Amino acid sequence: MSLQGQTALVTGGARGIGRAICLALADLGAEVGFCHYDDPEADATLAAINQRSRGFAMSADVADEQAVEGFFDAACKALGAPDILVNNAGILRESPLAETKAADFDRVIAVNLRGSFLASRAFVRRTDSGRIINIASDLGLLGRENMLAYTASKGAIITMTRTLARELAPGILVNAVAPGSTETDMTSPQNMSPEAIAKDLDTPLARFGQPREIADMVVFLASPQSGFITGQCFGVNGGSVML
Ligand code: NAI
Repeated sequence: MSLQGQTALVTGGARGIGRAICLALADLGAEVGFCHYDDPEADATLAAINQRSRGFAMSADVADEQAVEGFFDAACKALGAPDILVNNAGILRESPLAETKAADFDRVIAVNLRGSFLASRAFVRRTDSGRIINIASDLGLLGRENMLAYTASKGAIITMTRTLARELAPGILVNAVAPGSTETDMTSPQNMSPEAIAKDLDTPLARFGQPREIADMVVFLASPQSGFITGQCFGVNGGSVML
C-alpha cells in the first residue's frame, strides 16, 4: 500500500487517534497537514510527520467557518491540493439530559458535526477527486446514556457519510470509521466517568483499542486498495457493535 504523491488533511491531528492517523498516512508516503485546537502536542506531532514525509500544522477551530477555510488555504499553499480528508476532530461531554447546558450541547454538535461539514465543503471546493473519511463512533450506532449531543453528532456523521457518498460519486469516495473505545485522553478518567469507562470495556474483546488500530482502517480507506468502497461505516470496536 502506498500513498506516495498524495496530500492528506486531518482535523484534530495533534493527539490521540488523529495523531496516529497522521503518522500512519505519512508512513505510507503521504504529505500530511493537520489542524488542532491550540494543542500543546501539535509541535511534536508535526516533527514526527516530518521525520516520515512532509507536514503542515495549524491551530484552527473546526467549528469556525473562516478558520477552516484559512486552514485549507494555508495547507494547500504548503502541500498542494488535497487528495484525502480525514474528519477526526471531536469532543465529548457527559451529563444527564436535565443537567445538560444548551451551550454544551451546541458546542459538541458544532465541533463534531458542523466541523465535519465545513471541512468536507472546503475539501470539495478544492478538488473533485479523492477520499473523505469521517470518524464516527460505535456510540453513534448504539446510543449511550448521558451523552446525547455526542451520540447524536456521531449518528449524524454516519448519515452524512451516506449522503456525501451519493452526492460526490464517482470522483470522491466517502466512508466512515466507527471506533469503539480507544485509549486516548478522551477516554481518560479525567474526561469520562468510571461507569462510562466500564460500559466501554464491556465488549467481546474487553479492552481499549489503540489509536494505531483505528488508523490502520483509515489508511486502507485512503488507499487505492479500497477503490470500490463508498458510503460504508466500518466498526473497529472489539465487537461492541456487530452488523
Ligand atoms: P482526543 O481528545 O485525544 O484528541 C482530539 C483532537 O482533536 C486533538 O488533537 C484536539 O486538538 C482536536 N480538537 C478538539 N477540538 C477541536 C476543534 N474545535 N477544532 C480543531 N481540533 C480540535 O480525542 P480522540 O479520542 O483521539 O478522538 C478523535 C476522534 O475519534 C473524535 O472524533 C472522537 O469522537 C472519535 N472517537 C474516539 C473514541 C475513543 O474512545 N477515544 C471512540 C470513538 C470515536
